[in-house]
Amino acid sequence: MMQVQITTMAVLAIVTLLLVALSGGGVGASGFRRTATAGGRYKLQSVVKEYANKQGFEAKLAVSPSSGNDPLGRDIGSLSFIARIEKSTRLRLYISDAAKQRWEVPQSIIPRPTLSSDLEPATEPVLAVTYTTQPFGFAVTRIATGEVLFNSTPPADGSAKFNPLVFKDQYIEISTQLPSTATLFGLGESTRSDGLKLKQGRTYTLWTTDIAALFPDIDLYGDWPFYIDVREGGTAHGVLLLNSNGMEITYSENSLTYRIIGGVLDFYFFPGPSSLDVMDQYTQLVGRPAAQPYWSLGFHQCRWGYRNVTVVKNVVENFRKANIPLDTMWNDIDYSDRFLDFTHDEERFPMKEWRGFVDGLHANGQHYVILIDPGIGSAYDDYQTYKRGLEQDIYLKTDDGKPYLGQVWPGPVVYPDFLNPNATPWWTNEVQLFHDQLPFDGLWIDMNEVSNFCTGTHCTWNGTIFPDGITSCYLQCTDSYTNLDEPPFKLNHFGTHEKLGHLTAAMTVTHWDGTTEYDAHNLYGMSEAVATKKALTEVRQKRPFLLSRSTFVGAGAHTAHWTGDNKATYDDLAYSIVTVMNSGMAGIPMVGADICGFYDMGTDELCSRWIQTGAFHPFSRAHTIRDNGNKELYLFPKTTVSARKALGLKYQLLPYYYTLNYYAHKKGYPMIRPLFFAFPSDPETFDVSYQFLIGDHILVSPVITANATTVNAYFPKGTWYNMFDHSQIISKGENLTLQAPWDVINVHVNEGAIIPMQEGALTSTAARKTPFTLLVALPRNSPLSSASGEVFLDNGEDIDMVLKANQSTYVRFKTAVDNKSGTLSSHVEHGEYALQERWIVDKVIVLGAESAVSVVDVNGKPSQVKVMHKEHNLEVSGLGLAIGKEFEISWT
Ligand code: NOJ
Repeated sequence: MMQVQITTMAVLAIVTLLLVALSGGGVGASGFRRTATAGGRYKLQSVVKEYANKQGFEAKLAVSPSSGNDPLGRDIGSLSFIARIEKSTRLRLYISDAAKQRWEVPQSIIPRPTLSSDLEPATEPVLAVTYTTQPFGFAVTRIATGEVLFNSTPPADGSAKFNPLVFKDQYIEISTQLPSTATLFGLGESTRSDGLKLKQGRTYTLWTTDIAALFPDIDLYGDWPFYIDVREGGTAHGVLLLNSNGMEITYSENSLTYRIIGGVLDFYFFPGPSSLDVMDQYTQLVGRPAAQPYWSLGFHQCRWGYRNVTVVKNVVENFRKANIPLDTMWNDIDYSDRFLDFTHDEERFPMKEWRGFVDGLHANGQHYVILIDPGIGSAYDDYQTYKRGLEQDIYLKTDDGKPYLGQVWPGPVVYPDFLNPNATPWWTNEVQLFHDQLPFDGLWIDMNEVSNFCTGTHCTWNGTIFPDGITSCYLQCTDSYTNLDEPPFKLNHFGTHEKLGHLTAAMTVTHWDGTTEYDAHNLYGMSEAVATKKALTEVRQKRPFLLSRSTFVGAGAHTAHWTGDNKATYDDLAYSIVTVMNSGMAGIPMVGADICGFYDMGTDELCSRWIQTGAFHPFSRAHTIRDNGNKELYLFPKTTVSARKALGLKYQLLPYYYTLNYYAHKKGYPMIRPLFFAFPSDPETFDVSYQFLIGDHILVSPVITANATTVNAYFPKGTWYNMFDHSQIISKGENLTLQAPWDVINVHVNEGAIIPMQEGALTSTAARKTPFTLLVALPRNSPLSSASGEVFLDNGEDIDMVLKANQSTYVRFKTAVDNKSGTLSSHVEHGEYALQERWIVDKVIVLGAESAVSVVDVNGKPSQVKVMHKEHNLEVSGLGLAIGKEFEISWT
């Protein structure tokens, strides 16, 4: 891949050039549609400052004519437009009120350079900014090709119909024209009925909402204003609008229109050119995904409704008896006393017995995670967590200075303001106090959109204790709505244009520094994740694991995520595949769906298909609602068989997943990737929504329909080997029909890969100790070929996941093969750690070895290894080579 850099000089040269060329000219006044939503038009008045090293400039924009009393509000008269080349791979374009500081995503949420930070000197030109002066608009161009990536000036020829920039207090509108060759991905979070690609004619609403994931195409738990645009030939770039206010983004007639109800325009452009490069550049800004503990890549079992400690004990035992791997057991809110965080019900979860159970899990190399909600019950005098929070004054408040009252499971609740710096110490203390009693390994932070069973600005509680688990509102609310709850532009929120405060904290509610929920609503879950990660790290002194339902861009740096309340249907199974890939592209790679469905029981066959898919997601957890009967995997005969098979393979692949986890953390690469990530020059891959790649090399082609015995799957050009029986497919880049009876999951590895595997086991702790096999996949029908792969190894739970002598080992493998012979060699960085752990490579399997082998040398000497040749596959076993020492195996 070409090395990509944006530079200063060229950008500014082009800017300057165009400034001269277009000044006063602009694009024609006709040719764009002025809708009722349009305000006045901005004119670039003057460039007021040029940065040192020619890395950007600031300009003044003035509105003319002003919209006066437009129903959407008055235009802001004077705006600043700032262009900054922040790094060689990051261009920032910022527009805000020139006279007044507006709301921006706080630095505590996404630490990043400020507008006055020093810029890194950039060297080679990649992206350029140009602009038109009247109406004002800007364009971002890839210098090498001249391709326009983003252009906010409506085209004079009317080929795209949109307004130029509109900027009011509560309404900002900006569009970009896109060529017909653009293919867009991202903009979440929502369940997608269209598949992976963004669809023209759709509007994506970004507003964090507690609504079941089973409803497609409406706002869901997260807010990810980021997209990847892949152009013809496969060159990708990314566009982030760093803004936490509610917004709608409409993709229509080859243009993308943002309609935002507040904040600033803070665009970041990442030039790629590969999708992985885009992820690297984007996560460098929003936060590198958190390193996940090794055990979290194993299987997790949860349900809402595990009523007592005996039940959970039995479930763990039943997994063992059924020979199905289980790494982590979970409890939903059922363990708590009156649904209060950091409490337990002594009758159903007697602490002594409960702790014994958790100690037992640990002794068996297993782990335990519990749920907490942000709503802090306020109805009980004996509830110390609530009282300590009051003392610390860390709850969200109404305009009369009282804690804002909402309602969730415990009845009336108040909500911690996690943006308040004093909230984290309070939260950490609560986590510590509970962890001292029960040494849980992770926390599940649910309902953090933030969820409220009531809608209202000022609510009170009359003392009635509600029936268990009630979700209708029991508070009395007197409402005084303002233009924050009902802004002039109505978001299509909940799919129904509800008030913004619908079933969440009211928009007039304030944070510690006066910030309103109107601005910070979409950051609630993210701010809780930031605080919880800090708390868990401090309390456990190990790599933290947390799972958050609500997220913002950058949340991957703190938390894992699941796709939320889905349903046991084949459609939901299909949706989960898309949402998991979308989450990875948002920078939240540790993600999975409720395996076998949250709502409804489903069938054995559906659950079997679901585990065949869900096993291969990075976060692999079965979960269901309390109204359902039991539906653990082992209760269904077909599901049991599929679980053993699919999880069996996942557990063998754990070193590969863990290495992907390392790359996710280091570079932001999603662990699960759409096909176009690895095959960008094959446009067929842009349309593949229901297959996914694990890393770049392993393709999963799940069944997502009932009663299927086959599956249609796309295979990019090349040789692919079945991971179970090593049978091969040589594809020209075509759709193929594969056998897929109920117990078959199609998982294939492609040519060029060396996959590090270990032996399966019932826990990742046990699997980690087994010998390694290297699976080498070579192309068929090619006399000369090569393959490569790598593995990262550490103890799986140190807080930092870095390559460091004595603490971790990184090994690169490569194979070079000609017609008759081949070599496989390793290059080791920091081998000591792997040597201490005594990890060995016992077996090498070469798929696609063309000729029978008679001699195998290890490190230059003939060896006594066992050699088997089956058709085109070579298997060498009994190697006993330390993975921490370099080796070379050759065969002729
Ligand atoms: C909503 C979550 O999405 C679900 O997974 C959980 O079981 C319930 N809350 C109860 O805690």
